[in-house]
Amino acid sequence: MKRVGSVAQASDLRPDRIPAHVACVMDGNGRWARSRGLPRTEGHAAGEEAIVDAVDGALEVGVRWLTLFAFSTENWKRPVGEVRYLMHFNESLLERRRDELHDKGVKIVFAGRRDWRVPRRIIERMDESAELTRHNKRLVLTMAFNYGGRAEIVDAVRTIVAEGIPAEKVDEKMVRKHLYHPDHPDPDLVIRTSGEFRMSNFLLWQSSYSELVFSPVLWPDFRREHLYEAIAEYQHRERRFGDVRQ
Ligand code: IPE
Ligand code: IPE
Ligand code: MG
Repeated sequence: MKRVGSVAQASDLRPDRIPAHVACVMDGNGRWARSRGLPRTEGHAAGEEAIVDAVDGALEVGVRWLTLFAFSTENWKRPVGEVRYLMHFNESLLERRRDELHDKGVKIVFAGRRDWRVPRRIIERMDESAELTRHNKRLVLTMAFNYGGRAEIVDAVRTIVAEGIPAEKVDEKMVRKHLYHPDHPDPDLVIRTSGEFRMSNFLLWQSSYSELVFSPVLWPDFRREHLYEAIAEYQHRERRFGDVRQ
């Protein structure tokens, strides 16, 4: 696994090999804040700029799907004050940014469980943002919120069982059909920031053949150049999908 190195520009990339779907584990907010003597929550706030720049970068090079991991099903374990902050932060982020995202042609969608723990006000903001942007075509921005890859598979299995589908009809196609967004292609490229080398329950089903790029950059420092570096790295990979090279 290679780490991302030098700064890249959009013009360095091969336009015929831009990944259609890029997914990011936005990690390192807490460490970014701690290294400045700030509370962890300041790191989450600083991550907003990185989100906006990553979206603009994706738009610039023609990425069609961008999925961002914003809150995991395990993040409820965090101190109650941080969880409360993250709930409010994501709600106000949608309020602040949805119009500009809409103007840029971004379709905002959500992936995750809508269980009792997610405050109703956030669900309302999510629904409003999704409704406002539903006809946009340039980029699908999926916010993975209260998302877990295992929970997604469990939810798919539950629906399959509830629909009374017989066991012999259950195959990979059927499971995929019951994921949160069966119409989204699998991510071609998964980026994780902050120098951690793990998936942390992100897109487990969908990332089977994704190319993984790990960046040492802490999420609040992430900018479109880092996205381009990761895409440049992706463009050097040879994808085989279990086959042999012809
Ligand atoms: C990622 O940053 C944001 C969320 C998980 C919500 P972290 O908060 O995990 O930051 P570190 O990993 O503690 O530095
Ligand atoms: C993954 O990061 C979740 C999000 C980025 C939302 P974590 O910081 O929660 O992952 P671990 O705990 O380091 O594996
Ligand atoms: Mg983390």
